[in-house]
Amino acid sequence: MLRFSRSLSSLARPSSAYLRSTPDFHSATTLTPNELSLEQRHTLDAALRVDQAGEIAANYIYAGQMAVLGRDKAAGPLIQEMWNQEKVHLAVMNKLHLQHRIRPTLLLEAAKVAGFGLGAVTALMGKEAAMACTEAVETVIGEHYDDQLRDLASFPTHDPSIQLLKDVIRELRDDELEHLDTAVVNNAQRAPGHALLSTVVGAGCRVAIELCKRI
Ligand SMILES: [Fe+2]
Ligand SMILES: [Fe+2]
Repeated sequence: MLRFSRSLSSLARPSSAYLRSTPDFHSATTLTPNELSLEQRHTLDAALRVDQAGEIAANYIYAGQMAVLGRDKAAGPLIQEMWNQEKVHLAVMNKLHLQHRIRPTLLLEAAKVAGFGLGAVTALMGKEAAMACTEAVETVIGEHYDDQLRDLASFPTHDPSIQLLKDVIRELRDDELEHLDTAVVNNAQRAPGHALLSTVVGAGCRVAIELCKRI
């Protein structure tokens, strides 16, 4: 266990444990804990169900933004860079779903359509509105990942898969907060109707999170 912890903490990006052809942390990346209470299992299921849907929606948001702003010399590369990170997030979430045997939400197709629509519509409103969309989404997702870390604090601390999951969630949270900063630095708050746009997009994300926990 100690060996695992030491090796894991030396990883700059814990998610890379899921992206290697020969994982170093076998039990951490392949086993699901068998000593969870029913409530903890439910918490884990709901968390990973929401996270996968969120990462899918994020990918489609950026796809929608790129469909409109892909050729913009300033916004295009920025959006592409954030999208590339979302692709990695989703690949990791898909592996976590297999590992912990999670049923995906029934709302996956809706998440794709809503994500693409949100991305494309905000991009059509302008670069600043596209950034405002990212700012609003990542604010909610950052809080959401923090909530999950709080929930996971009561889980068995000696289980390597839970340790790794917490490290991965922390890493993804930090990436999302970096996207938030990128959006703000790139004039998100100058978007026309910024306050309304933030409120509507943020509220939509919170509803989507609650739905995906349950369905
Ligand atoms: Fe993400
Ligand atoms: Fe993100």
